[in-house]
Amino acid sequence: MADTSNKTPKPGAAKNKGVKKSAKKAAPRKPKASVEKQPSAGSDTKSAAAEAGNTATETSKPPQALRHWRIETDDDNIAWLHFDHAGGSTNVLSGQVLEALDEVLAELEQLAPRGMILVSDKRNGFVAGADIKEFTTLSNIDEATVLVRRGQSVFDRLAALPFPTVAVVHGFALGGGMELALACRHRVVEDDPATQLGLPEVKLGVHPGFGGTVRLPRLVGAPAAMDMMLSGRSVRARPAARTGLADHCVPRRHLKEAARELVLKAPPAPRAHGWPAWLNHRLARPIFARYLERQLAKKAPRGHYPAPWAILNLWKDHFDDPQRQMTREAESFARQVLGSTAQNLVRVFFLQDRLKGLGKIPRGEPRPRFEHVHVIGGGVMGGDIAAWCALKGMRVSVQDTQPQALARVLQRAHGLFRKQLHDPRAVQAAMDRLMPDATGDGLAGADVVIEAIFEDLAAKQELFRAIEPRVRSDALLASNTSSIPIEQLAQALKEPSRLVGLHFFNPVAKMQLVEIVAGTQSGERERLHAAAFGRGIGRLPLPVNSRPGFLVNRVLMPYLMEAAILAGEGVNLSSIDKAATDFGMPMGPIQLADTVGLDICLHVGEILAAELGGEVPAALRTKVDAGDLGLKSGKGFYAYRGRDPVRGSDKAAAPKDLADRLLLRLLNESVACLRESVVADPDLLDAGIVFGTGFAPFRGGPMNHIRQLGVATVRDKLERMAASHGERFAPDPGWSSLKL
Ligand code: NAI
Repeated sequence: MADTSNKTPKPGAAKNKGVKKSAKKAAPRKPKASVEKQPSAGSDTKSAAAEAGNTATETSKPPQALRHWRIETDDDNIAWLHFDHAGGSTNVLSGQVLEALDEVLAELEQLAPRGMILVSDKRNGFVAGADIKEFTTLSNIDEATVLVRRGQSVFDRLAALPFPTVAVVHGFALGGGMELALACRHRVVEDDPATQLGLPEVKLGVHPGFGGTVRLPRLVGAPAAMDMMLSGRSVRARPAARTGLADHCVPRRHLKEAARELVLKAPPAPRAHGWPAWLNHRLARPIFARYLERQLAKKAPRGHYPAPWAILNLWKDHFDDPQRQMTREAESFARQVLGSTAQNLVRVFFLQDRLKGLGKIPRGEPRPRFEHVHVIGGGVMGGDIAAWCALKGMRVSVQDTQPQALARVLQRAHGLFRKQLHDPRAVQAAMDRLMPDATGDGLAGADVVIEAIFEDLAAKQELFRAIEPRVRSDALLASNTSSIPIEQLAQALKEPSRLVGLHFFNPVAKMQLVEIVAGTQSGERERLHAAAFGRGIGRLPLPVNSRPGFLVNRVLMPYLMEAAILAGEGVNLSSIDKAATDFGMPMGPIQLADTVGLDICLHVGEILAAELGGEVPAALRTKVDAGDLGLKSGKGFYAYRGRDPVRGSDKAAAPKDLADRLLLRLLNESVACLRESVVADPDLLDAGIVFGTGFAPFRGGPMNHIRQLGVATVRDKLERMAASHGERFAPDPGWSSLKL
C-alpha cells in the first residue's frame, strides 16, 4: 500500500472548510519549520535520554527523539508529528521510541501549535504495537510495572496537550499503536480494507497497558470496547467510524485534510453516548459483566487465560475512577506479562515468526513463480487445497477422474469464497481462477503440481510416472500423502529429487500448518520452493523428514489411540474429552477422532504400528468394522445430532491418571520424534504441534511443557505408568539425552 502520510504537505489549503469540501482542494500546507532544523536542546524534557543528550557521546549522534519522530509546522501553525521508526520497516513502540516521544511531546508543549496531527511515515501502517521482544527481557514485577507506567505517563502527556490532537491511521493501528491513537483527541482512518484497528494483547496473554482499558470503553462504550479487548479482534475502517472509534473514515486523498479540519474546528473530544455509554454506568456494569463472564468462560477459561478476566475486572471495578483504573491496569499488566500464559504465548508468537521465516527464499537465490497450481485429485483434500490456492490469487486447474468430484470442488469453493471474500465481484474473480480440468491440460503450464489422490502407493506411483513427461522441467512436484514415504513415491520418477511432500491438514482453510516433507532424495531447491509456496498461500511451513506419520500425525496418534483404549475400558467418553480440554486442548481426543474419521485414524494407526511397533486399539477397529466412522457417518464413538456429539455426563468416576495417560503418550512420542530428527529442534517440534494440532498454546508446546515440568519428573512418571499400564508408556531412549 502506498504511503498516505509521508508526502510533503502542499500549500494552499483553505482554512475552515468542511471535510468534504476542502478535501477537494489541496493537501495540507507546506511546513514552515522542521524540528530537525531546530536545536532541540531547548526542549523541556524530563526523559533520561534527553539528559544524556548533554553528554559528549550523545552530541555525536542525533538526539534520541529525532531518530524516530519529526515535527513539521505548517502555515496554519499545525504541528505534523511524523513517526518513522529508525530501526525497521514497521513502526513499533519500544521503550526507546517512547522515551523519544516524551521528548517530542515536551517540544510540542513549548511550540504551542494550533493543533498536532500524528502521522506514520511507514508504508505498511500506523503502528504495529509494542516491541514484543521487550516482554521477554522483563525479570520482575517492579521492572514490568515501571516500564508500563512509563508508557502510560507518555500517553497521558499526549492526552493532556492543550490543543487538538489527531491520529491519522492507515494500515494497522494495533496494541500500543491503537492506544497511541486513543490518546489523541481525534482519529481519522483511511477507508481501505487494509485499515485495521485493534487491541490484540489477549492473544499474547496480556491486556492493553498504555491506558487502552481506560480510554476505549469511554470512547466507544462497553459493548464494542469489551468485544475488541476480550477477543483481540481488530476492526476495519468503516466499523471503526460507526462505533465512534474513528471520527472520520475517508479515502486516502482526503485523510490529511480531514485531520486538518478537526484541528481547525476543534470540536469536543468524542465520547460514547446512548446505551453503549449507559452500560458503563455503575449500576449496569455488574449485570453486563456477568453476561460477559459467561461468554468468556466458554472461550477462555480463567485458569488458562487470565488476561481477559483482568480486563473485565479493571472495567467493572474501577471505571468510575480513571486514575485508579490506570494504576491498576499497569499493576495487572505487569503481573500478566510475567505469568506463564503470556510468556508461553509470546514464545508461540516467535515460533510462528520462525516458521514464516522458513518460507523465505534466501537472498541471492532466484525467486520461484507460483502463478499456476495444478491439483490432481479433487476429493476432500485436493478440492480444498485447490480452492484455497485460488482464494490466495493463484490460477488453479484441478483434475479428477470423476466429473462429480469436480462439480463438488466448485460448489465447496464457492462457499469458501463467499465466506471469505464478501464482495460478489471478488467471489466471481476467484471462481474464474479455478478451472476444472478432467484431462489434465493444465499440467503443462503449471508452476506447482500437487497430487492428492487416494492414499495408495501403486496408484500414486502410476500417476507420477504418467505425469512426469507432461510437466515443465522446473515445476515443483508435490504429494499430499499423509503416510507414504516420499522416497517410495519418488521411485516412479526419472528425476526423484523433484518430489517433496506438501502435507496439508483437514480442514485446509482452517489449519495453518503445512508440513514440508523432505525425502532423502528430495533436492534442496525443491524443499526451499515448497516452503516458499506454503508461505505464499498464507500457511506456516514446517520442514519435516519423511518418517512414518511425519511429525503431527506421529505425535497425535498415540494420544488418540490412548483415548480409544480408555473408551474400550468403558471410561465415560465425555470425561476423556474433558480431561484434554481442561488441559487446554481445543477439542477432546474422542471428538477429534470422530471428526477426523475413525477409518482414517485406523489407517494411520495401522501404518504407524507396522512401522514403529505397538497395537491399534480393538475399540477403534470394532467401530470401523461396524461402519461407525465418526461425524461423517453420523455415528462414531459419539452419536451425532447435526455436527454436535450427543454427550453423556462428564461427572462419572474416571481414572485418576486419565489426563496423564493421554498426555504422556503425546510427550513420549514427541521425544521420539526429536531423537529421530523428524524435525530439526525442540522449538520446531513445539511450533508444529501447536499449529498442527492446536496443542494448548498457553503451554508453549510439548517440549516447553516438558521443560516446565522438568525432564526427570516426566520421565519418572512414564516409568511408573509403564509399570502399571504397559510397555506403550516405556520412556523413549531419547529421554536419556534430552536437553531442553
Ligand atoms: P478422497 O478420497 O476424498 O479424494 C481422492 C480423489 O482422488 C477422488 O475424488 C478420486 O476420484 C480422485 N482420484 C483418484 N485417482 C485419481 C487419478 N488417477 N487421477 C485423478 N484423480 C484421481 O481423498 P482425500 O481424503 O482427499 O485424500 C487425498 C490425499 O490426501 C491422500 O493421500 C490422503 O492421505 C491425504 N490426506 C488426507 C487427509 C484427510 O483428512 N482426508 C489429511 C491430509 C492428507
